[in-house]
Amino acid sequence: MLLDTFASSEAVVADLQPAEPVFCFLPAELRAAARRFVAFPGRVLYAVKCNPHPFVLETLYREGITDFDVASLDEIKLIGGLFEKSAGQFFNNPAKTRPAIRVGSEEHGIRFYTADCTEEVEKILDEACLDDDLIVAVRLATAAKDARYTLTTKFGAPPDEAVRIVQMIKARGIKAGVSFHVGSQCLNPKSFSTAISLSGKVMRKAGVPISVLNVGGGFPAPYPGDRLPDISAYFANVMQGRRDIDLPPSCMLLCEPGRSLVATAGRVIVQVVVRRDRAIFLNDGVFGTLQELVSPLERRPVRVIRPSGPVSDRLMEFKIFGPTCDSNDVLGAPFLLPADTREGDWIEVDMMGAYSLSMRTRFNGFHTDRIVAVAS
Ligand SMILES: Cc1ncc(COP(=O)(O)O)c(C=O)c1O
Repeated sequence: MLLDTFASSEAVVADLQPAEPVFCFLPAELRAAARRFVAFPGRVLYAVKCNPHPFVLETLYREGITDFDVASLDEIKLIGGLFEKSAGQFFNNPAKTRPAIRVGSEEHGIRFYTADCTEEVEKILDEACLDDDLIVAVRLATAAKDARYTLTTKFGAPPDEAVRIVQMIKARGIKAGVSFHVGSQCLNPKSFSTAISLSGKVMRKAGVPISVLNVGGGFPAPYPGDRLPDISAYFANVMQGRRDIDLPPSCMLLCEPGRSLVATAGRVIVQVVVRRDRAIFLNDGVFGTLQELVSPLERRPVRVIRPSGPVSDRLMEFKIFGPTCDSNDVLGAPFLLPADTREGDWIEVDMMGAYSLSMRTRFNGFHTDRIVAVAS
């Protein structure tokens, strides 16, 4: 997909003078992130939910990431429409509708599913084609204390239950796998080896051959304020974990990153609608692309772009509100901006590639839909 391309954020502002938020893709960042995952010791699936824009999907595909973790019929159709059967689709949402399983299997050839209860396994076996390449992985609940976003409060079977489900899948003549998600923006690589060790215990106790270990997403983005080891430390931990449990070479290893592939590959240029003392009202907010910034822990690099002249060197903290008439439309952490920031200034919010476009709403008539590429 071709996007209008600009040399810099300054050029976007100069050319478009945008009164609406503009989402900018940074193709070079996206390609670099994809290349970092070449070192992962298994197959890399991109978690579509993180940023499903065709520009992302097509760029990753060209970089060799041709497998996708999908969660809904819409995502399945999106991938099918873009790549037909040349892309791998893995239906890893543990709670799927029957029509989505049926259409995914019959029309898109999906052979890999995830479940965290026997009821979901039965549903998959009712609806999917039962050829011998069908694989159902059991999502295991793991500790997520080092992650910004915990997923185990919603998904994952406790170890004993996971053992039972794996045995049930095998007893029905289907290939079984184990999967987990250590939580999004996981700040400690050891979370992966700990979760792999728990998966090893489940595999041993189940006592049946396991065809797949899926270590999920959770690989972090280098947001300001987060002290992170390099991504290679995460891959090293996965390799160590795999060695420790003596995973047989016949067992396929998967990961399904979202955030760490796309976070640095997108930014949003927003405009100041009104300044009220130390509060700034922007034209985008938590019902738009800034949804994740509702958390006081979420920081992003920000800077003012003012084509008409210089900005003050003195910085101060501003409380940031979004444009809707809803008092929840407020960011959790202040922005540090020039003291003379005023109506009409543009603000570049960097590192917004993940969970931004995919989470925007049309609430109150505000919807960010101007999408461009920035070459620098
Ligand atoms: C099943 C599944 N896989 C992968 C991901 C991607 O996670 P992340 O963006 O933290 O890499 C998620 C995110 O919630 C998920 O639910």
